Amino acid sequence: MIKMDSQTIVYEQRASYILFNIFKELGKGEVLMPANICPIVPATIIKAGATPEFIDIDLKHLTMEQDQLLETLQKDPQKYTGVIWVRTYGNNQENIVPLIEKVKSINKNLFFVDDQCLSVPSFEKPTTKADLTLYSTGYSKIAELDWGGYGILNGKVDYNRVLIDFDETKHDELQNIFREAINHSTKINVPKTDWLNGQKPAVSFEEYREMLMLKTEAALSHKKIINEIYDELLPNEIKLADSFQNWRFNIKVQQPARILAALFEQDLFASNHYAPVANLFSDTEAPNASKFHSQVVNLFNDFRYSPDMAEKTAKIILKNL
Ligand SMILES: Cc1ncc(COP(=O)(O)O)c(C=O)c1O
Repeated sequence: MIKMDSQTIVYEQRASYILFNIFKELGKGEVLMPANICPIVPATIIKAGATPEFIDIDLKHLTMEQDQLLETLQKDPQKYTGVIWVRTYGNNQENIVPLIEKVKSINKNLFFVDDQCLSVPSFEKPTTKADLTLYSTGYSKIAELDWGGYGILNGKVDYNRVLIDFDETKHDELQNIFREAINHSTKINVPKTDWLNGQKPAVSFEEYREMLMLKTEAALSHKKIINEIYDELLPNEIKLADSFQNWRFNIKVQQPARILAALFEQDLFASNHYAPVANLFSDTEAPNASKFHSQVVNLFNDFRYSPDMAEKTAKIILKNL
């Protein structure tokens, strides 16, 4: 653990390993999270010995539907050990202070994670009383170092690093399991293999912080250039609000498959993350997450994408709306 400006920071090879250590300490119980979360998170919760439970998203904020979350907790407060609140597409504009207060009034021992893994990394004191504010600098994140994650802790649980082995090929196998399950809507059985990288990072926290701050600055300037192209060329009706546009530039369209196919045909690319995974890990249905996922396309604005590619992409989209 690192003390910085009166904050307690944990820093690891990846953000999921921080979640693993915390939920291992909290023990058995259910952990609430959004239906459209990255599958590595529920897999990590299962590896830690707890059970993921999913809440559908609301179509305005694209985050967990708050009433459903609170009703679920109220029904059986002791069943749950934590809530993982995800800032969808990195939108950290939503004020979740009142929500955290309501959650804590139902069960003050619930561990509340403010998952900002897709947001712009920050070392500022969190404005919420979340027990953990979590950031990632892994693959395809805003400050993409391809590894690394850190969390700002609010002093609720002891943070103990659980020593685990890691085998890169097992991580690749897990990613294949996710891909197959998402493509074929089949259930995910998380293997009991060494897929989670809990090795100590090779560089000091100070070096890491320096690297990620430089990377963030460069990534944000690049994103600004690319986003301006999308913003200028694409119609407003299909754009998500600005606060959703840092991680990627997201549009909502009637025919995402047609757009993706047309882009791939021209050696361009885009994606449609994040598919609902609730039905892959449980029997929970998430109609809103499914509906939203069937309409969204994430346009790239990172270093894989040049202004020229962005312009071609926007023109292809316009032809395929
Ligand atoms: C919302 C969210 N939380 C947590 C994680 C895990 O981050 P890491 O890859 O650093 O383990 C991810 C990974 O994609 C994510 O999207």
